[in-house]
Amino acid sequence: MDASAASFATRVLGWYQRYGRRSLPWQRQNAYRVWLSEIMLQQTQVATVIPYYQNFITRFPNIKSLAEASIDDVLQHWQGLGYYARARNLHKTAQIIRDRHGGRFPRTIDAVEALPGIGRSTAGAILSFAFAQSWPILDGNVKRVLARCFRVQGWYGQSATMQQLWYLSESVTPGENTADFNQAMMDIGSMVCVKSRPKCEICPLKKFCGSYIHHSQALFPQKKPVKAKPHKTTLMLLHRHGEQVLLWRRPPSGIWGGLWSLPEVDDEDAIKLWQQSFLSMSHPPGTIQENAIRHQFTHYSLDISIAIIELERLPRKISDSDNYLWVDIDALENHGLPTPVRKLFASLQE
Ligand code: ADE
Repeated sequence: MDASAASFATRVLGWYQRYGRRSLPWQRQNAYRVWLSEIMLQQTQVATVIPYYQNFITRFPNIKSLAEASIDDVLQHWQGLGYYARARNLHKTAQIIRDRHGGRFPRTIDAVEALPGIGRSTAGAILSFAFAQSWPILDGNVKRVLARCFRVQGWYGQSATMQQLWYLSESVTPGENTADFNQAMMDIGSMVCVKSRPKCEICPLKKFCGSYIHHSQALFPQKKPVKAKPHKTTLMLLHRHGEQVLLWRRPPSGIWGGLWSLPEVDDEDAIKLWQQSFLSMSHPPGTIQENAIRHQFTHYSLDISIAIIELERLPRKISDSDNYLWVDIDALENHGLPTPVRKLFASLQE
């Protein structure tokens, strides 16, 4: 560890003595309890975990009792904590420890990481808290502290970013007092270096923190850039006859399933063919308003153009007539229309 990493650890440990969480019920307890707490804390806040933890260790006081319990009994004590795969893995792991480790929680990083439900960070946390070993951790809070402090490029989904974060965590983690250091880093992440509006003025790391120094706390951790949504286009056909407009009922599944909308074609060249197929006539498109409405779907945006076609006479028959309807413009509100189509009519009436 170099000198600046040593003073980083010294500041973190000094802060921990004054402000850290030092009397959580699973602290300075055996490996079973530490492991259980770390699993419960994986997706859940400390305040929620405490009563579950107490209840769980009362019913399952050690690895043996957990291994021998039925999965239903275990799940019942997990009821309400969510992410039930955690409970299943806990039960499975208790049986593995009973069957392959002589009932004693393993003490090597490789053996701990091989257990179901325990990744590298949880393994490091358990070994540092239960056995005072020196291993780095990298849970969500620690990732944020390090990403801000060292202005880490990229986002968590990228393997180069995660490698960099692990490298940083290894570099700052001291060889001694690792339990306090690891707990302190989690505490700083959850109490000081919070996601929005971090409390930099009270942070023990501010003189080390690149984001603080450069006023760029909001830029780190970097977010995955939001991909531009693909654009689609469509041309809606508004056939009018006097005060009436021709609506089309959309198929029951797919977007706007079952709503009354306007017939659609790909482009202007397809209008004539559509008219011949459905109205048994053709009529030149009147005015076409390009990109009259842009509608945002979750996965794409849709630019809707509209062709307004004034018919002098009603077509004698319409194919697929169950799904077509002449409706008085004043009566449109009595029909379920997709929002952009409703907007389209509103804009035409202005
Ligand atoms: N989240 C995961 N482990 C934790 C711990 N030991 N203390 C607080 N939050 C945590």
